[in-house]
Order: sequence, then structure tokens, then C-alpha cells
Amino acid sequence: MSLKLIQVGLGAHGRGVGSSFVIPSPDFEYAGLVDLDSGVLEGYAAAFHLSKQILYTDYKQAFRDLNADAVLISAISPVHYQIAKEALKQNLHVLIEKPFVLTMEEARELVQLAADSKLSLMISQNYRYLPTVVTLKETLRSCSLGNLLFVNAQFFHDHNGKGYQRKMDNYILMEMSVHHVDMMRFLLESDIANVWGKTWNNPGSGYKGDPHVHAVYGAENGVSVFYLSSLLAKGIPMPWEGVWRFQFEQGSVYLDDLGEGYGVYVVDDSQSKTHIPLLIPEKESIHGVLAEFAQSIREGREPSISGRDNLNTIEALLATSASSAEGKEIKIVKQ
Ligand SMILES: NC(=O)c1ccc[n+]([C@@H]2O[C@H](COP(=O)([O-])OP(=O)(O)OC[C@H]3O[C@@H](n4cnc5c(N)ncnc54)[C@H](O)[C@@H]3O)[C@@H](O)[C@H]2O)c1
Repeated sequence: MSLKLIQVGLGAHGRGVGSSFVIPSPDFEYAGLVDLDSGVLEGYAAAFHLSKQILYTDYKQAFRDLNADAVLISAISPVHYQIAKEALKQNLHVLIEKPFVLTMEEARELVQLAADSKLSLMISQNYRYLPTVVTLKETLRSCSLGNLLFVNAQFFHDHNGKGYQRKMDNYILMEMSVHHVDMMRFLLESDIANVWGKTWNNPGSGYKGDPHVHAVYGAENGVSVFYLSSLLAKGIPMPWEGVWRFQFEQGSVYLDDLGEGYGVYVVDDSQSKTHIPLLIPEKESIHGVLAEFAQSIREGREPSISGRDNLNTIEALLATSASSAEGKEIKIVKQ
């Protein structure tokens, strides 16, 4: 039987997630739709033949009135915390778009609330279900190139930030690097233990929070990741997953375009290059996230990308900001 879902936030991303992933999902059906903008709600409902009865502009009222199992939060990042807290208090399972929330206090409170109520709290770090990332992870696991020495990761894009993004603190960290830092943890199968970081801005950029970051992330397994990223980089944009080089003793594994298109490559110590065929997960991107969220609800267990799991991603990002402000390395002490 389908689980009943209320989606909060039908902006550009929310509408795409709704139409391409929620509506075709075998696991969920809409119990409600919420957005501050009633025009957006009505347009979406009309486009997909959904009842006007399920449209709300106030999420609290929707959570009270509607008979639902779960909430998908795809509203702007600064309101994720307040909506998630209310949903958990109303005994609803919660799936939140990245970034989970914007402070560690908020993150820990929601993780505790979900644990106390035995509710699924999952973060849509959908890159973990992308074919490129799945292929890279499997290649790192199966390659025989000796020990991993270090990792280099880069991402450059000239992004036209949304209104809320222009006003945010930690713009690139919370809106974009959240994907890449989560990829680091996923690919290395290790949490981040320490960070040396620097973030900066262009004068008159129109962004309150810094759009550029350079950081060295020290993973608990001893590997360092050298990361340079910008959302204000005119020129050729990179794919959203970025460009990566994993340097082993006997060769390197790449997520890059080494001449045959963007993908995963292995180059050994004799300079022999292999382009690895893409592994296509059974459920790609947000299809995978929704399936795992539904399964965790049905099995009464914590989802794989739970709020608890995501604490280290958020903490590493905030530590990058703190390192930049304080000019020193920040160690992450687990609580
Ligand atoms: N996983 C990904 O790859 C990915 C990609 C893009 C965006 N996102 C995330 O999705 C979220 C939304 O991004 P977007 O690009 O759609 O933003 P957007 O500005 O286009 O839309 C946000 C929507 O949220 C609504 N909203 C704001 N406050 C609300 C409230 N209190 N109650 C109900 N609705 C409210 C607005 O009316 C708007 O329609 C952000 O957190 C963003 O980081 C994730």
C-alpha cells in the first residue's frame, strides 16, 4: 500500500522532484501539497490533475488536517528546521532536501526528536544514487592500486543564486559543498575528523555568504581530501558531482573527462587508461532516496542517509566556515 506524503515547497526543485520522482513513485501518493505561493500550488495541481482539496499555504494546518504518513521538505533551506520539527511533533516521518539544516543545534535536536518518536528522518543526499558516484565507489572498492594516498576534488560553476541563497550565511558550503562533502564520506567510508578551510567572496557579488571555498578535509581513516570549489566561476561549468582524482600508490582513479566523456577512469602505473562502464543503480538519484525512505518506514528502522548520519556532513561544513573565520584547523569532536 502507498504511503501518504505531504510535500512542502514547490519551487523550481520541489516541482521537479514532485513530477519526476514522487508522482511516478510506487511507494508514495500525495496526501497534501504546501507552499506559501497559492498560484504555484494551483498550477502544479492543475498540471498533474491533483485535487484542490489537498492544497495548503500553512504547513502546520496541513500536518494537523491531513491524514499522512510522511513529509517531504523541499522548501528553501532556512525553513527546513522549523518544518521538520513540526512534522516530527505531529508524528510524521520526514525526508528533507539537502542541506539538512543550518546549525548543529538544530540538527541534533531533530535527530533526538526522531529517535524519541521512532520516526524515520532522512536527508536527500541524492548524489549517493547517481550512476557516476555509484560507479566511482565500486571502482575505488575493487581497484588494486595499493594504498590510497590522497584525494583532489574540484567544482566550478557560475550559478545564478536564488533570492534566499543570496541572503544566506555559508552560501557555497551549505548549498553546494554539502553534496561534495557527503560524497567524500560516502566514497571514503569514513567520517571527517578535521578541516583546514578558507571561504571568500568577490566585492559586490550580491551574495552575503561566501561563494568560494578551499579546504583540506582530514578523514578519520587518515586520508586527506584537497577541495576547491566555486559557485561564482565564469567559464566552462563542471558537472554537479565535480571532478575527482583518487591518488593510489600504483595509479589513480578519476571522475573526470579523460578523453571519452565525463565518467570514471582508472590509470595504472604504466599510464594505461581504462574507461569504466557506468553502473546504473536499480533506482537512480531521488528514486533511490524515496525507495530507501519508504523501506525504512515499513521496516521501522533508521534510513541509510539518516539525520544522524548527516550530522558529520553538516559539522564538517560548519567547521570549514569556523576554520576560515578563526584561521586555524578545526577538529571535529563527536558527541
Ligand atoms: N538535491 C539537489 O540536487 C537539490 C537541487 C536544487 C535544490 N535543492 C534544495 O531544494 C530546496 C528548494 O530549492 P529550490 O531551488 O526549489 O528553491 P526555490 O526558491 O525555487 O523554491 C522554494 C519554495 O519554497 C517555498 N517556501 C518558502 N518558505 C516556505 C514555507 N515556510 N512553507 C512552505 N513553502 C515555503 C517558496 O514559496 C518556494 O516555492 C533547497 O533546500 C535547495 O537547497 C536540492
